[in-house]
Amino acid sequence: MTRKESTVPRRLHFEIFRYNPEDSGSVPHMQTFELDEAPYMSLFIALNQIRETQDPSLQFDFACRSAICGSCGMMVNGRPALGCRTLTSDLPRTIRLHPLPVFKLIGDLSVDTGTWFRQMVEKSEAWIHSEQAFDPEAQEERMDDELAQAIYEGDRCIECGCCVASCGAANLNADFAGPAGLNRMARFLMDPRDSRGDADWFEIVSNSDGVFGCIGMMACHDVCPKELPLLEVYAYLRRKVLTTKIRH
Ligand code: SF4
Ligand code: FES
Repeated sequence: MTRKESTVPRRLHFEIFRYNPEDSGSVPHMQTFELDEAPYMSLFIALNQIRETQDPSLQFDFACRSAICGSCGMMVNGRPALGCRTLTSDLPRTIRLHPLPVFKLIGDLSVDTGTWFRQMVEKSEAWIHSEQAFDPEAQEERMDDELAQAIYEGDRCIECGCCVASCGAANLNADFAGPAGLNRMARFLMDPRDSRGDADWFEIVSNSDGVFGCIGMMACHDVCPKELPLLEVYAYLRRKVLTTKIRH
């Protein structure tokens, strides 16, 4: 009989990173917790049970519990994943949890992804730039179905930070746009409502903080919980850079 078919519940052994940067007496360490596994138990459920029954000071983030809000990214046995989407039945009995690297630590498993994503968006001005004055009477602009679908693909990013945490380049270079940043750039680059041309984007994308910062490890592609086509995004950006006429 396999483990998944077994009717005897497992006693899970959690090793969880603990550290409160706000507390001068706090020292980074791993704390262990034991918990009986329940059917269909996600890490969200397990961590809540630990907090409710064993240690109310344990910090971690969840909001939607359904892979939409992007707040529950954490390192699960060394791999970035969404806690709400990870079932304990898919993991060994010993489960090691760390906060995502790259992002500022708030405490224990909780990190501040918002500040990182905001600086990335501000640096690349990844929003629609329009030279037209706003006209509330204007007709909705039409868009080719295929292009709309391609833009929608990029917009499916939930900014969980898993790809950034898995990325060797983003771990080494704080200025690198990272997989999620490159995805966002591509999304606006292809949007005809953005008045910036390819040459404007060339300045932003074509350097070691942009698409040439990627060192090709492609872990981002393996860990993205929304299965975004990140490899296609990089290929699109590189093609754009190679075919852009540079301003002199
Ligand atoms: Fe998360 Fe995927 Fe977006 Fe990266 S690209 S932030 S892994 S949803
Ligand atoms: Fe929202 Fe996991 S709780 S993505």
